[in-house]
Amino acid sequence: MELLHRALLSALGALSVFYALVKVSLGYWKRRGILHEKPKFFWGNIKGVANGKQHVQEALQDIYTAYKGRGAPFVGFYAWLKPFVLVLDLKLVHQILFTDAGHFTSRGLYNNASEEPLSGNLLQLDGHKWRTLHAKCAEVFTPSNVQKLLPTLAQISKKIQSHLGKEILQTRNISDLVNVYNKDVMASMVFGLGHGQDNQEFAKWTRSYWGDFKLWQAYLALEFPLIARLLQYRSYARPATAYFEKLVLSQLQEQRRRDRQPLQTLLQLYSNADQPLGDVQIAAQAFGSLLAGFVPLNVTLGFCLYELALQPDIQDRARAEIRKTLQQHGGHLTPEGLRELTYTKQVLNETLRLHTPHPFLLRRATKDFELPRSVFVIARGNNVLIPTAAIHRDPEIYENPERFDPDRFAESAKQPRPPAAFLPFGEGLRGCIAARFAEQQLLVGLVALLQHHRFAPCAETAIPMEYDKKRLLLMPKTDIRLSVELVK
Ligand code: HEM
Repeated sequence: MELLHRALLSALGALSVFYALVKVSLGYWKRRGILHEKPKFFWGNIKGVANGKQHVQEALQDIYTAYKGRGAPFVGFYAWLKPFVLVLDLKLVHQILFTDAGHFTSRGLYNNASEEPLSGNLLQLDGHKWRTLHAKCAEVFTPSNVQKLLPTLAQISKKIQSHLGKEILQTRNISDLVNVYNKDVMASMVFGLGHGQDNQEFAKWTRSYWGDFKLWQAYLALEFPLIARLLQYRSYARPATAYFEKLVLSQLQEQRRRDRQPLQTLLQLYSNADQPLGDVQIAAQAFGSLLAGFVPLNVTLGFCLYELALQPDIQDRARAEIRKTLQQHGGHLTPEGLRELTYTKQVLNETLRLHTPHPFLLRRATKDFELPRSVFVIARGNNVLIPTAAIHRDPEIYENPERFDPDRFAESAKQPRPPAAFLPFGEGLRGCIAARFAEQQLLVGLVALLQHHRFAPCAETAIPMEYDKKRLLLMPKTDIRLSVELVK
């Protein structure tokens, strides 16, 4: 009886401590006197997201819409017990990314390079390690280097045309189709896999490196990184990281055996840089590229073809520009030719606006930031979230934002908009280091897809398309399927 009594008392004690902890954590914004979304016990403001009923983008957009225009430059909210700053004001976005970026060089993601070397990548690192690495990587992603990669990219893009074949009319899984192109580019240009080398295993691990990822574990690792490191928590499936690391190391060795190759892949550019990285560091950057870039590239091309299928006039206009440009450049994709594809680029930008793959940018304040001419302070250690997808759908910035309209990105239409109104790649010190490379890859892929083929909705096309609410990135809930017609 006494034992039962003690057990009940202990359980009650533990519950009271838990209750007090939750209450204290969820009282952060109230204590600071900052406008905030009222949190629900334990869940904070993300109950719908955690239950898979709402995409994180929708949750952020709801908060952005409810609080923007109330005079505050930001609003507080909670993801479970973690307080976040959600930025509402584009001037503040600009300060965080550019003018005062020195206060916000961290992202606060979990990494553990000693236990899991591939987590030592640019996306996940912060502080001094990130700064040194960034200086070296910036040397690789220069405009002239990206241009050097064009011939290989153009060659790979031809494969997508042979995949489509010569059938007059067919129904295709577009998500699979663009995945083949982007996977081939990643395998070849980022990991150095050559023609004829088997990339089945590469394909397998690009699908499954998250292993048995558990959101609650990742959340705890983010919240208590020191304990997670002590417990040797790893973010990715061990066989996958072992495979990617081994692949890069063997490709680098192979590369060094061959003499004086033209610089045609990122792997070559990394090892030929003036301040080269160590081999394992290069492997970590290749893995980071997969992590940061593969899904966004896939979904952007997929969403783009979906929108073009629904708007045949826009599709025809882009195809006409592509054909004319290719004709003027002897049938080849040249750097000059790519620059002339202004409307096709507008189509891609409009896709990135309407279906922003990374729906928010993340920063952690490394020192207190007092907002100029205001009483507001973003405190050191605060997690800051810039809701880019919500900004991209703000009707005060983009009239009738749900409409797909590439003319929004014509020079004259772009000019009146504030600089922070379009941020699919982020910006500033921690912006996407490979934005130019990614834009080139998307453009070359779209040229190959549209040159000889017309895309249209079919019976299996999901209209309207839904996002997968269980993913952090904006991805379609089901694969995109379209009918594809060969055009003369
Ligand atoms: C459509 C394609 C892509 C999109 C939309 C995209 C978008 C982004 C965004 C939004 C960020 C965070 C920026 C910020 O916090 O300000 C980012 C970071 C990054 N991206 Fe991309 N990305 C794409 C493709 C790629 C590719 C292909 C690579 C590599 C080859 C890549 C490498 C990186 C890296 C390394 C970072 C971290 C940079 C740092 O923290 O210093 N991305 N990307």
